[in-house]
Amino acid sequence: MKDLRKSVAVVTGSGRGIGREIAISLSREGARVVVNVKKRPEDGMETLGRVKDNSDGILVQADVSTRDGCKKLKESALKMFGGVDILVNNAGTSIAMPFIDSDDALIEKTIKTNLLGPLYCSQEFAGAMGPGSIIINVSSLAGIRPMKYLSVYGITKFGIIGLTQYMALELSEKGIRVNAVAPSVVRTRMGESLLSMMKLNDEEYGRRYTLTGKIIEPEEVADAVLFLIRNESITGQTIIIDSGQMLMGPFSGEFI
Ligand SMILES: NC(=O)c1ccc[n+]([C@@H]2O[C@H](COP(=O)([O-])OP(=O)(O)OC[C@H]3O[C@@H](n4cnc5c(N)ncnc54)[C@H](OP(=O)(O)O)[C@@H]3O)[C@@H](O)[C@H]2O)c1
Repeated sequence: MKDLRKSVAVVTGSGRGIGREIAISLSREGARVVVNVKKRPEDGMETLGRVKDNSDGILVQADVSTRDGCKKLKESALKMFGGVDILVNNAGTSIAMPFIDSDDALIEKTIKTNLLGPLYCSQEFAGAMGPGSIIINVSSLAGIRPMKYLSVYGITKFGIIGLTQYMALELSEKGIRVNAVAPSVVRTRMGESLLSMMKLNDEEYGRRYTLTGKIIEPEEVADAVLFLIRNESITGQTIIIDSGQMLMGPFSGEFI
């Protein structure tokens, strides 16, 4: 999709962090943006205010880990803008924990939010999307290779890459492309909480675990998302944004 002006984009979990930056970047390109939060409308209003500096948008409160939440999001977007061209499955949850200690509530919440949600939302939106539309999934470096204490999170992020490829294969029949991004540690609440569990600050993380010497900024993930949206010859692919972390050996900081 070369020209995003007048397109309609839905970004799940865009009340803060990576989702917020993706929403703002899309609005700068002229896209109208549907901002989504689960339970913090004040966060969503802040993102929406930034979106409206550039284009138009709405805020929809919906839990996208459920089929009903994804339906509500789709219906609100269609009612307001009449169609959807871009879906970014960004909403996610993560907690670092040894595999053996991960309880059922954690397992179920993580799988519902990170894997079932993108599947439900993609089904709902793909049915309403026309040729030239695109779905972007947010995976993780933990979905490319295993990372200690991120097993439950990691399997959902491996799954998202599989979902991306399967959807690319089938949705091509409708002219829809599907791609993913897989970042390593990004400067957001989620990224900072991972580092604090590992007793690392940004500088130490950058020095010990990356080739570039720095944590990833959410804007850099948003740039990769825009690239995948624009390039009409890329589908079924995952872009890794990891500051070279994968070449640095295992990510084995000391957990509490
Ligand atoms: N930060 C990193 O280091 C990193 C690295 C690799 C991949 N990622 C992935 O990037 C994505 C965004 O992460 P982030 O770092 O921006 O996280 P974040 O700062 O924790 O923000 C996550 C956002 O998702 C929303 N959300 C969670 N569950 C939701 C649901 N069921 N329905 C609607 N919204 C929901 C949260 O809203 P509420 O507060 O309302 O729940 C929050 O606004 C996630 O998929 C994450 O796995 C992050």
